Amino acid sequence: MTPAPADYPAAPHRVVVVGGGVAGLAAVLRIRRSLPGAQLTLITKAALEESNTWYAQGGMAAVLSGAPGQDPSGTGARAGGPDSVAAHAADTLAAGAGLAAPDAVGLLCAGAEGQVSWLESLGFRFDSVGGALSSGREAAHSAARILHAGGDATGRALAGALIGAVRADPSVRILESIFVTDLLQAGPPGEPRVTGVRIRPAGPSAGGDAGEREIAADTVVLATGGAGRLYEHTTNPAVATGDGVALAWRAGAVVADAEFFQFHPTALDVPGSPLISEAVRGEGAVLRDASGTRFLPAYHPDGELAPRDVVSRSIAQHLAVRGERCVYLDATALGGPFLARRFPSLTSLTARHGLNWARGPVPVVPAAHYWMGGIRTDTSGRTSLPGLYAVGEAACTGVHGANRLASNSLLEGLVFAERTAEALAAPEAPWPAFSADPLALEAPDAGEPFDRAQLQRLMTRQAGVVRDAAGLELAAKQLAAYAPAGSTAEELETANLLLCARLLVHAATARRESRGAHHRSDFPLTDPRSIPKSTAYVRASTPQEGFPQ
Ligand code: SIN
Repeated sequence: MTPAPADYPAAPHRVVVVGGGVAGLAAVLRIRRSLPGAQLTLITKAALEESNTWYAQGGMAAVLSGAPGQDPSGTGARAGGPDSVAAHAADTLAAGAGLAAPDAVGLLCAGAEGQVSWLESLGFRFDSVGGALSSGREAAHSAARILHAGGDATGRALAGALIGAVRADPSVRILESIFVTDLLQAGPPGEPRVTGVRIRPAGPSAGGDAGEREIAADTVVLATGGAGRLYEHTTNPAVATGDGVALAWRAGAVVADAEFFQFHPTALDVPGSPLISEAVRGEGAVLRDASGTRFLPAYHPDGELAPRDVVSRSIAQHLAVRGERCVYLDATALGGPFLARRFPSLTSLTARHGLNWARGPVPVVPAAHYWMGGIRTDTSGRTSLPGLYAVGEAACTGVHGANRLASNSLLEGLVFAERTAEALAAPEAPWPAFSADPLALEAPDAGEPFDRAQLQRLMTRQAGVVRDAAGLELAAKQLAAYAPAGSTAEELETANLLLCARLLVHAATARRESRGAHHRSDFPLTDPRSIPKSTAYVRASTPQEGFPQ
């Protein structure tokens, strides 16, 4: 007898996850559980080990029940008094400067303990002393709640554990050094659905259409991270070129809060701008100017532990007034043995650059670090396009508002990857709709050639730590004149950066106030009358296939 259609075995759900940081890796592992029969493909444009996650130092914010006095420095000493999920949420909302979404924040902070247990189930261990997890303090946290691993190598340890678990699962197809050039879409007019990705090899010689092919999927999850490469100085690795935001934008997804880019106050002032964790200031290091003066208390009562945007802006202002290029992080009071034990990677990093930070202050500058803006999603990773999800830094759930609280991003990747995996297993849930203003960002047919360094200089000068109308107008004009060219993966990344830059500058121009990480010297105050509202845009023209545009 011919079986009725309902008796046929269901075709496996095909899922493509793009991005190999914490959000992408956790999404793969969680989807493996939530949709056990799914055909899972993980795509990264470099090796899995090359992600922002890998370079995370400070750690992961987490309030754990039954650990009211988490050991702040690994010395065994208890400090900080009782902490709570509510206090973590209050700190996250305060850092977000009125724009953080309370529902997303609640899920983030309440989800921390479950994520710690899940990581432990994978064999991952945060640092501990005498059986208690060690926890450090970072700026704008009201308690010492930052869990860390390997001292200051949290990202590497965490990514290593997740990569190990993904690689150990033979049912996950892993495609490394593969660049995603487009999202595929199909469906009736006005109701497109994302149906897969177009890919090509990511190597430097892979120009033209060489090796291009398509992977069909029922669901695509973008976990492509941030876009620190928009700026001259960034703590982000070379892969952070805003690819996911650009892919989603071209496909017609809503992008929100693009004006909010966080600058970390302390990147070592050497080529590559490597991060010096905020945890160093959390342990008591101070910032001095070239004359040796500790200057931050004159800018904010919390000094070195003021919110990150305040510290970065104060440094920029202090440098501008004094006509100097860097300030100095003085960790000498912590002593060589403590520094070597608590911050082994940073001790080696500074030594590699001929610096002995136990003996003298080291030069630091603010550097682009984390993009709060991204592809608008609900708290289950759903974007405005059916079939497309986004998680981690590429997404904008609103959890960070106008400014991310330190050490909330590893947690973000884990919590929202789990929620995305749960949503994939519940396809009957209604798809969200987000309001957005239409915006045309296409390049003119014939524009000026440009290189990535020009774009980075322009963004650093006109759309960096401090902005104003004149600079943003100049940036918008110049960005509109630039025309992307070429078809190597690197050239396509630069086209993605250009698109992200145009979005960021447009949103920064529209926000005529200062809020969180977005500071306008011509509108220096936060508008007290406005009900804080996200900027949200969607591509004005009909989505078309083809690239670059
Ligand atoms: C740091 O270690 O300072 C970075 C932590 C973060 O950006 O969340």
